Amino acid sequence: MAVFHKKELLRAELLGLKKEGKSIGLVPTMGALHQGHLSLVKEAAAKNDVVVVSIFVNPTQFDNKDDLSKYPRDLNTDVQLLSPISPDIIVFAPTVEEMYTDNVSSASFDFDGLELPMEGRYRKGHFDGVGTIVKRLFEAVEPHHAYFGEKDYQQLLIIKTLVKKHRLPVQVHGCPIEREENGLAMSSRNERLTKEQREEAGFIYRTLQTAKEKFGTDSVTEIREWATEQFQKHPMFNLEYLEIADANTLKPADHKVKDKKYRAFIAVYADDVRLIDNIALN
Ligand code: PAJ
Repeated sequence: MAVFHKKELLRAELLGLKKEGKSIGLVPTMGALHQGHLSLVKEAAAKNDVVVVSIFVNPTQFDNKDDLSKYPRDLNTDVQLLSPISPDIIVFAPTVEEMYTDNVSSASFDFDGLELPMEGRYRKGHFDGVGTIVKRLFEAVEPHHAYFGEKDYQQLLIIKTLVKKHRLPVQVHGCPIEREENGLAMSSRNERLTKEQREEAGFIYRTLQTAKEKFGTDSVTEIREWATEQFQKHPMFNLEYLEIADANTLKPADHKVKDKKYRAFIAVYADDVRLIDNIALN
């Protein structure tokens, strides 16, 4: 499998493939690949002639230095996981200097308010960092299609808005959340949980499922109070937020309106490991 570290060499390779009429799918990742990432790669490989998987731990989207330094990095293992999927995968693993030259900072974006609640509220500057790197990846690769997980649902909506606002010639696709057996959404950060925390973490998804059951009958305030209480009683996890929002605008819901789509979103700490998840409510 070809691994590129430089934009220009990657672009030269892709130019040749595009001239042959091949379609290019891009899967942006920060590495430490798991089945969640691989499901995106498989979808991209099924729909495109060539798949570019970018592996880059993007410093500008971390608001916490410790989280950035502890983020797992292992390119060799990632390449080994990708190679059985398809011979037509290209890995793009640039250095920070390659993506940011001399200035490691982000541009500032207006995503029509999608960037304000939840991850935007609790991780300052996060979506400016995501917008900056994904735009640069789109410009470097110029893919026909790009694949993102619903695991980061707010990010998925923001990328769709980025593409629309900047008229980038790429089609963005959302892919379903892959879970461990106990329901815990797969995440590179799960590796940092203790064995006990990882076993218990199905509690997070079960909370979302119960919120979904309650959504027909209870008010949003009641559901949030109930969830807060569940986490107060739990010895291992601290709730940062549970939000119920319109699935298109992410505006907080106060009650259910017919014909609108809603999702519940959750962020939880297990010691210093931050986990997020979400579920469609209707
Ligand atoms: P990362 O967290 O590595 O995730 C890469 C892609 O995999 C994202 O689109 C994410 O939503 C998806 N993904 C992660 N876990 C998943 C799961 N359990 N099921 C389905 N999809 C899952 O998201 C990022 O990296 C970065 O913000 C990035 C977009 C690469 C920009 O730096």
